[in-house]
Amino acid sequence: MKFFVDTADVEEIKGLLETGLLDGVTTNPSLIAKSGRNILDVLAEICELVPGPVSGEVTATDAATMIKEGEKLATIAPNLVVKLPLTFDGIKACYALTSKGIKTNVTLCFSANQALLAAKAGATYISPFVGRLDDIGTNGMDLISDICEIYAMYPDIETEVLVASIRSPLHLQEAAKMGADVATIPPKVIHQVFGHPLTDKGLDAFMKDWASTGQSIL
Ligand code: G3P
Repeated sequence: MKFFVDTADVEEIKGLLETGLLDGVTTNPSLIAKSGRNILDVLAEICELVPGPVSGEVTATDAATMIKEGEKLATIAPNLVVKLPLTFDGIKACYALTSKGIKTNVTLCFSANQALLAAKAGATYISPFVGRLDDIGTNGMDLISDICEIYAMYPDIETEVLVASIRSPLHLQEAAKMGADVATIPPKVIHQVFGHPLTDKGLDAFMKDWASTGQSIL
């Protein structure tokens, strides 16, 4: 399973790269706004830092302008993936950009049928949002299960399931059990995944016992 981080915070990305866990990055207009940076500058910096795919989202809502924006974003770097909303125009833009060899990530997916549309348009990734479904009282992980099941029945579908809007370590664990290809995880949740009270307790005990020996490895 690939781990992407869902952020446009360059310092956070640098720190995570040092763990060797990071396979890619996703951004969206809200995350770009939060970074306070120019979209082209920050995406270029992230693409340079991260060898894997980096999603940058278009901001137009009509297909013709989305295609122009996508073509411009794609010139940033070979690992730039153009993110498009799952609308009629977004799917048209996905098909057009895919036909030009540009990688795409279709976002704001909330149903298995929508995921089918993205796959048929040749999307590289489909981004179903689990947390936002949970927010309205619908089990977001059921959507991941449905998409994985449907995609698995059609071996010609190459679109990867990229689980988005992850809010907790449990979302990640369930996505992994379902065989999702990618999870894009907010930095806060990545750090939560490391933690376990028994790890902390065990390490404290080891350190106390070690101190009592008076030894040093170095
Ligand atoms: O990048 C898309 C997605 O991960 C957003 O998550 O928490 O704003 O629903 P969230």
